[in-house]
Amino acid sequence: MSSVLEIINTRSSIRKYSDKPLPEDVCRTLIEAGLKAPTAANKQEIHITVVARDNPVQQEIQHDLNPNAGNSFFFNAPVTFYLSGPDAFKWSAVDAGIAVENIHLAAADMGLGSVILGCMEKVLNGEKKAEYAKKLALPEGNSYLVAIAIGYPETTKEPHTYDFAKNVTIL
Ligand SMILES: Cc1cc2nc3c(=O)[nH]c(=O)nc-3n(C[C@H](O)[C@H](O)[C@H](O)COP(=O)(O)O)c2cc1C
Repeated sequence: MSSVLEIINTRSSIRKYSDKPLPEDVCRTLIEAGLKAPTAANKQEIHITVVARDNPVQQEIQHDLNPNAGNSFFFNAPVTFYLSGPDAFKWSAVDAGIAVENIHLAAADMGLGSVILGCMEKVLNGEKKAEYAKKLALPEGNSYLVAIAIGYPETTKEPHTYDFAKNVTIL
C-alpha cells in the first residue's frame, strides 16, 4: 500500500481499459472506500449504484449520450459507479465529490485506473430523469450527482501540471 501523498502525486484520469472484468472483492473494496469518505453531519446518504459494462442500463445511457459513440464515454471500462444523494441535503454534491475522489485514489492505489465522469448529467437528470432513477435504483428523493468508470488501465498518463501562483493566495 502506498502513502496517500504518493497516490495523489502520481494519479491521473485513465481513459483506456482492458476487457478484463473487475473481480467482486475488488469492487467491494472500492465501494467501501467511497462509503468511508467523510460526509457533512455524518449523514452517510451518498448512494452508489454499480453498473457493469454490458448491463442494459449502461447501454441505454451510452445510447442516449450519443447513439453513434458506442461506449466511448466510458472508455470501455468494465464497471461504472453512479453516485447519487438526497436533493433535500445541501451538502450532497460535496459529499459525492469527496466519496468519488476516495474511490479514484483507492483505485490508483490498487493498480487500477479510473476516471470521474460528469458527462452523463444531461441524460440522467434530463427528460428521462425519473425513468433512470428507477433503473439505477436510486433511493427515493435522490438525484444522480457524479459517476466514475473503473478498470484495468491500458495506458498511462503523466500527472497534470498546474499554476500555483494563479490558484493559490497565501495571506
Ligand atoms: C466533476 C468532474 C467531472 C468530470 N467529467 C469528465 C467526463 O465527463 N469525461 C472525462 O473524460 N473526464 C472527466 N473528468 C476528468 C477530468 O477531465 C480530469 O480530472 C482533468 O482533465 C485532469 O486530468 P487528471 O485527472 O488526469 O489530472 C471529470 C472530472 C471531474 C472532477
